[in-house]
Amino acid sequence: MKYNDLDIKNWKNLDINVDSLWVIDERDKSGKHSNIYHGNFIPQIPNQLIRRYTKPNEIVLDTFLGSGTTLFECEKLNRRFIGFDINESILGFVSEKMQEGKNNYERNYFIEKCDVSKKVMFNKKIVEAYKFLNKQSIQFAIMHPPYMDIVKFTDKKEDLSQIENSEEFIDVFLKVINNVYQHLDIERYFSIVIGDVYKNGEIIPLSSLIITAIKQKFNVKLKGIVIKNIEGNRGKQGKGGIWRYRALNSDYFIFKHEYILTFKKI
Ligand SMILES: C[S@@+](CC[C@H](N)C(=O)[O-])C[C@H]1O[C@@H](n2cnc3c(N)ncnc32)[C@H](O)[C@@H]1O
Repeated sequence: MKYNDLDIKNWKNLDINVDSLWVIDERDKSGKHSNIYHGNFIPQIPNQLIRRYTKPNEIVLDTFLGSGTTLFECEKLNRRFIGFDINESILGFVSEKMQEGKNNYERNYFIEKCDVSKKVMFNKKIVEAYKFLNKQSIQFAIMHPPYMDIVKFTDKKEDLSQIENSEEFIDVFLKVINNVYQHLDIERYFSIVIGDVYKNGEIIPLSSLIITAIKQKFNVKLKGIVIKNIEGNRGKQGKGGIWRYRALNSDYFIFKHEYILTFKKI
């Protein structure tokens, strides 16, 4: 297989989840991981995807780096990494974490402030990253955008979490994907972690809207729609009873899942 180094002869013992339903009860809190950023994903998500879709030393891009979950997994799994975010305070946190206990060492990751929806800025930063990492393209990309304005990350106007309208959100997100797509090697993969949202008394199925929009615009094959349970969400911790009461007192269902969508560039 060209895109990972899994020992397929040993397939019975590989702990790679190939099911479309992922029920993971506990967040991995080992190593550099801590649950300090509202809206971060659990490390098991990038861990599974990186091992399935890349080989050691290849380049993983995370367009919405946040608190560095993907980077910490790349360090553990010996992959090179490019990460962007518009939130400079969280970038500072990630840099400090990466430098903890290290003096002179060869850095095999590149993280920078960047609005990933802006083509010129994105390309400029990617070229800087390639130069630094001595590479020319990307082998896997992971994108965990804000789920519209459900959790606000910054007050910046370019923050996707400021977008209240689904058409505008899809439009801007497609620009991000277009930027990534240009740099991704052919026959390689990108994954999007996203949830649906509830607004004005109804569900906006962001996941389905995005799949349809991506299939229309890009040469890709949809390889996976994984449904992952949401447990221990920081925003809802200890409030399960209230949410259940509200739902019962009304007519809707509480979101207990999000999606991991995987596409192959063809
Ligand atoms: C859902 S969080 C990602 C969390 C990350 N996966 C983690 O585990 O910490 C989304 C991130 O997107 C960033 N963001 C929003 N709009 C952006 C943009 N236009 N360009 C780059 N980053 C953006 C936010 O600052 C936030 O950190």
